[in-house]
Amino acid sequence: MPVLPPQFLFGNMLQTGIVGRQIPMNILFLQLKDKLGDVFQFWFGPMRLIVVSRLEDVQHIFAHRHLYDQGDMFINILNLVNPNAIIGLKGPKFKRHTTIISPLFRRAKISAHADTIIDCTDKLLNRWRNYNNNPTDIHLNLIEQSQQLLLTILGFVAFDYDLQTLDEEDRSNENELTHALCINFKTSIFVARLPMFIARIYLVLNYEYRQARMTIDRYLQQMIDQELRETAVTRTQRRKTSLIASLVASLQEDELFEATKSEEHKKGLSQIEVMGEMLALLSAGYSPTSAALVWFMHLMSKYPQVQSKLKNELVEYNLQRLSVEQIDSLTYLDCVIRELFRFVPPIVGTLRTLTADDRLSATGVQLSKGDQVFIPFYNLGRDSRYWSGSFDLDQFHPERFLIESNMNSNKTASIAFGGGHRQCIGQDFARLELKAICVRLMQHMSFGDGGPDVNESGYKQTDTILPKHIDGYVTKKPIVIKISRSNNHQSLQTGSTFKSKSSVHIITRAANKIHPKAQKSIELSQNPYSLGNFSWPSHHSLGNMQQCYDAHSTLHNHYQKLNHPVKLLKTSTILSGEMNDIREVSSNENGTIYDHHRPTKKKTKKNGVHRFIIAIILLLIISGIILIAVLVPVLTKFGSGTKTELPTTHVLRWKSNGITVAGLTGLQGNTSYQLMQPKKVFWKRPNILYIADYQNNRVQRYEIGSSSGTTVAGDGSFGSSLNQLYYPSYVTIDSNDEIVVADTYNNRVQLWSTGSTSGIKIAGTGNKIKSICLMLVFKQIFSGVAGNSLNQLQLPTGVSYDSNSNTLYIADYTNDRVMRYLYGASNGTIAAGGNGFGITNIKLWRPAGLYFDSFSNNLLIANANAQTIVQWPLNASNWTLVAGCAGTSGNNATLLNYPMDVVLDPMGNIYVADRNNHRIQLFMNGQTQGITIAGVTSMFGSNDTLLNLPFGVTLDNQLNLYVADTGNHRIQQFLRY
Ligand code: HEM
Repeated sequence: MPVLPPQFLFGNMLQTGIVGRQIPMNILFLQLKDKLGDVFQFWFGPMRLIVVSRLEDVQHIFAHRHLYDQGDMFINILNLVNPNAIIGLKGPKFKRHTTIISPLFRRAKISAHADTIIDCTDKLLNRWRNYNNNPTDIHLNLIEQSQQLLLTILGFVAFDYDLQTLDEEDRSNENELTHALCINFKTSIFVARLPMFIARIYLVLNYEYRQARMTIDRYLQQMIDQELRETAVTRTQRRKTSLIASLVASLQEDELFEATKSEEHKKGLSQIEVMGEMLALLSAGYSPTSAALVWFMHLMSKYPQVQSKLKNELVEYNLQRLSVEQIDSLTYLDCVIRELFRFVPPIVGTLRTLTADDRLSATGVQLSKGDQVFIPFYNLGRDSRYWSGSFDLDQFHPERFLIESNMNSNKTASIAFGGGHRQCIGQDFARLELKAICVRLMQHMSFGDGGPDVNESGYKQTDTILPKHIDGYVTKKPIVIKISRSNNHQSLQTGSTFKSKSSVHIITRAANKIHPKAQKSIELSQNPYSLGNFSWPSHHSLGNMQQCYDAHSTLHNHYQKLNHPVKLLKTSTILSGEMNDIREVSSNENGTIYDHHRPTKKKTKKNGVHRFIIAIILLLIISGIILIAVLVPVLTKFGSGTKTELPTTHVLRWKSNGITVAGLTGLQGNTSYQLMQPKKVFWKRPNILYIADYQNNRVQRYEIGSSSGTTVAGDGSFGSSLNQLYYPSYVTIDSNDEIVVADTYNNRVQLWSTGSTSGIKIAGTGNKIKSICLMLVFKQIFSGVAGNSLNQLQLPTGVSYDSNSNTLYIADYTNDRVMRYLYGASNGTIAAGGNGFGITNIKLWRPAGLYFDSFSNNLLIANANAQTIVQWPLNASNWTLVAGCAGTSGNNATLLNYPMDVVLDPMGNIYVADRNNHRIQLFMNGQTQGITIAGVTSMFGSNDTLLNLPFGVTLDNQLNLYVADTGNHRIQQFLRY
């Protein structure tokens, strides 16, 4: 197979100019195909790609899903930034996600959102009108504005949420979530270009990024919670058209239980997975679509005849708002959009990794398992073998799609959305969005060419391919395209629906005095002509909108009265006090305004070299940081001598092979020697284990050494009677040797005296409710009354007893708080959290296990969803971090992934059941770097060195370790030696 000889570390990237000369990859692969043929190798840094440009081979790849799965390179990158999103998954987890995510974009669902798309576009149009009336603010940044439009649309359509990107052009005032999303997107794009290990370090060290992720998670969580607060009937109704309603409907009922199943048997999505998908849809959904929109504007400016034809097609509708059916019937628009995706697919190509050896059907090239094939979309769209007709393939000719044979070719050789089982799931939505926006733009605006300096053809590579000189993302200066109003721009349509939950403010400025030195000037008003603020709630078509349009018309009429052909020559525009611009603004009766800008000073030719030098400097800085990161701990250890290290490593070490002391590995069951997903193990003198045998609805007592246990609480059946338990997930023993059980699904805590056949409810209401319709209330009957009053609990998952004060602490999981109950009291008080979920230090987020340290009067809380262990002193109003990083899960020494339980030894060292990392972590007193003392990080299994989703951990008086190895249905003992 042809290949360019690779260079050390850079592969073919430096020599081909991807690095250093900013050669866009679409152009590079076109050139390489001409030189090397249909199949060749390309070294993307240290990664070997096999580039395939032969259509038949591409079809072969897309058709053989079992042989060609998602590209590993994508998966690796995505695992760093969003490990729970469909794009970065494969195998059974991908299947589970795709059955939920793909239907979200079904035609019926997305068609309902056409009005929203048009409303948002109108908002952008209003903004442009204001610019044109205000000469000091005329610079348009089309990339950024397109992104803002697409983000706002996506916010409304997918999440009923107003991201407000079109409200405020001044980015310093942008919405907190939008700001965080931008940081997240930018960082994700940046790290995708770094070697994996540097990317990993960069993300850990990047404080801004971590903060942004926390903010995003907080907002996404709120959106989910808001949806959950709707009534069941409303939610069912909303599922027909609302993406967030459907996503929330897929939430697993019992996340803890699902986590213990094998991937093949899991159903639904966990909360974190839903949040991962939400974030992925936001990023996958806006970036390529906005790139396509930018291309549309660019191409319209370069191909005025196409623009006229499009406008002609719309003439019969005047400025009417088009329905989805009407949009679908626009043949020429359809050709324009198809041609756009052939001519300039926004994404450069896609990747697949071979799961077995295979031979390409047309070229006969032999591929091996693990090879990565890259399919460059541009090469197929520009290959004359696959396109008939006389139209030049290097030109934009929508008419080629009027030829029947090309309509067919288009299906295969124009593959901007990829193909096969991993093709883009949002493509119908993207097409609808683009068409609706383009129609609206064509109804109200015209795009003209601002000249080669500012509107040059060519390509720029970011995460997408963009026109070379619609720049300004950074500089914000050049006006690229002349945008002029079409006729009658005042007659916006009435009766519009704007699906915003928040208010929308529209302020239109009349043209100010344009310039004091104007030969002729229009003077309307010195002050902004404010139309006032209009607010309207969601899903509503209101008079306010009418009011707004009326005001617009009034304004326009006012303008028209004064308007007459005008020519204005302006020789200076003050920008930062400098004379740096020559502009001619002219306007005609139709309100068309032409602008001619001299571009801002062009960057020197050395731009690429500069960037390369900057890249090298950055690389050096990063290497320096890594060096420091490695050296500092070494030097500090060196400096502090043997003080901390030696005694503990000598004393504290455990055998890595566990001994099964209760249950049968992998064999769940309800006999006396079996367990079913035990969640917590508690050790008590002399050598007794109490086990919350979750799925068997009982607590088992084992004398260590005996292979069978006895039931000491619950009768094995689930229910809410006092002799029953319903998924008990935690157990402890009080000073009277009574068993305290977190009776999780009964939303109560039960106390069982030794030998008793029934328990006493000591916290939570947990009463039966009256049955009206058995099917409907079935779950509640058995689950007791959940709530967040002081006498209620919601899925209590942890209990800890303080013998000094005869007090019980309860991790009130779904209420994101820890409750304190004095024995005998029917109401509790809030001991920690209770301020809603979140990751700030006054909040908890799904506290699971807990440990009361009577020595220091601190509560140690496994703050599961926040991925931390926190310490909350009694009577304090906030926590301090003990282990993990709030809001960030991970599997390195400082991070945790769903910590579910925590215990303390007498020396103040902390032991954590790091559930999703399948390990037990030890954090020495005062240390934030954890040591794995049982299990192997991120590797689950059932042999004696491995764990499978450990939920609970405890120690005996010799500091031997006991682990509730939930997924293996057993309790493991790790002996200290
Ligand atoms: C013009 C707009 C768009 C373009 C050009 C585009 C292009 C692509 C491409 C090339 C892929 C990879 C396909 C493959 O590997 O075969 C992809 C995947 C994906 N796209 Fe799009 N996309 C667009 C819009 C959207 C929108 C609006 C959404 C959702 C809101 C979306 C969601 C996704 C998702 C979730 C995947 C991953 C599918 C998987 O891994 O199985 N895309 N897209």
